[in-house]
Amino acid sequence: MFDILSVLPVGAAAVACGFSAAALIVWRDLGPFARLSNVQRIGLASALGVGVIAFSIKLTVIGTLSMLDRSTLAPTITDPETDQVDRSVVVGRPVWQALPEVAPEPADNPTTPEKVALGRRLFFEKALSRDGTLDCSSCHDLAKAGGADARTTAVGIDGQVGSRNTPTVVNAAFQARLFWDGRARSLEEQALGPIANPIEMGADLGEVVARLSARPDYVAAFDRVFGAGPIDADRIAKAIAAFERSLITPDAPFDRFLRGDVTALSERQLRGMALFEEVGCIVCHAGPGFSRASLLAPEAGASGIRLFPSLPSDYEKTYRLTEDLGAAKGGRAGLWRVPSLRNVALTGPYFHNGSVATLAEAVRVMATVQAGRVVGDGRVETRIEWSPETGRITRRTPSPLGEAQVADLVAFLESLTGTIPNIVTGE
Ligand code: HEC
Ligand code: HEC
Repeated sequence: MFDILSVLPVGAAAVACGFSAAALIVWRDLGPFARLSNVQRIGLASALGVGVIAFSIKLTVIGTLSMLDRSTLAPTITDPETDQVDRSVVVGRPVWQALPEVAPEPADNPTTPEKVALGRRLFFEKALSRDGTLDCSSCHDLAKAGGADARTTAVGIDGQVGSRNTPTVVNAAFQARLFWDGRARSLEEQALGPIANPIEMGADLGEVVARLSARPDYVAAFDRVFGAGPIDADRIAKAIAAFERSLITPDAPFDRFLRGDVTALSERQLRGMALFEEVGCIVCHAGPGFSRASLLAPEAGASGIRLFPSLPSDYEKTYRLTEDLGAAKGGRAGLWRVPSLRNVALTGPYFHNGSVATLAEAVRVMATVQAGRVVGDGRVETRIEWSPETGRITRRTPSPLGEAQVADLVAFLESLTGTIPNIVTGE
């Protein structure tokens, strides 16, 4: 921490030197030259001396402020000399927040242990698919693929291949918008979709209800959870949603770090954390859920749907980023829900069409098309741009993001991998 006493002697010495120099000049040089009387010499020396003192005071103030500036106002996250990270300045900044230990629940579907248990049974229930071959876990594998399926795009009933990548169900409980294009607003609304989707589980909801109603064990379980009454689609959706609210990972190294375990993140991960903010990833992947479409994000909702790709690049063709436009009705780029980045290291391949295989490449694409960075270790050319409208020439040097920095960002994203407490992943 900055110590004001260390600056004062310097200031005092400067004042003394300045004052002596002014007096000397007036007495020996200016005085005789301008034929000043002794009284006039004392007057002039004092005037100059006061000027010197004022100047010294200003210098002292500026010096003090600049030291304050470096030590407390703008915390240096990485010390450039040692490349060590000052952990004390990273923790506790409001942009970084740990995931809550409990997911928020809607008023009309409170989470109870019995409901979670019923939802878990349904999640692994193959009777929810038309021919009894698929359950939710067929595509959302909680044990192996981080709640997704490790495929480019989903494979549903009769081996039909869908057009979108399977997102994880883990931490979906924190999302205010669900699906890649954000079309569902709650887990309850989402849950019945895949059952009836002809290329996912392909079942008829009425038939699923009839099948479950024919099983006394299910009838008893639904009665226990919801009170006596017939099994219906609404109850099925509520039970599944309650189970999904238990699929959260609040103990990732990132969260442990924020909760006080300063050894939970490596130096590389901390550098990546600083970069994540500096490059602007945090603008969209904000809050504890790393998504503006999260229930926990500041002004969640509409701001959670973004243009992607927002800047043109060669990636657009390579990864067919604009074939599917998501929520956009047309135009050059799609509109997509900002996905959470929690457990992202486990849920590749990436993007709505699963076209990018590795996390490093997904980071390169994002840095280029969403954050406007030039990625790679090649030389960055300064471009000269001429605008006929304003008659101005501008020099533009794109800000590069080297491979070492991409690796730092990937390392940071790996710190968002957590485990689900008390999860039972099989039937
Ligand atoms: C055939 C594979 C498949 C099956 C079976 C399946 N899903 Fe999905 N799930 C997907 C795909 C693909 C998406 C994304 C679709 C889209 O965005 O258009 C998805 C999206 C979701 C989401 C939204 C996640 C998010 O972050 O937006 C949730 C929640 C979900 N599924 C839960 C379930 C539940 C519950 C079941 C069982 C009732 C189920 N899924 C069955 C493939 C599947
Ligand atoms: C302007 C908003 C915005 C910014 C800035 C942004 N992202 Fe994204 N990010 C998105 C959107 C939207 C998607 C979903 C794209 C899609 O639908 O395929 C996404 C997807 C991703 C994915 C793929 C997730 C998955 O499950 O497939 C990763 C990884 C990612 N972003 C990391 C980053 C990183 C790292 C940065 C900073 C270099 C960044 N993002 C900056 C909006 C943004």
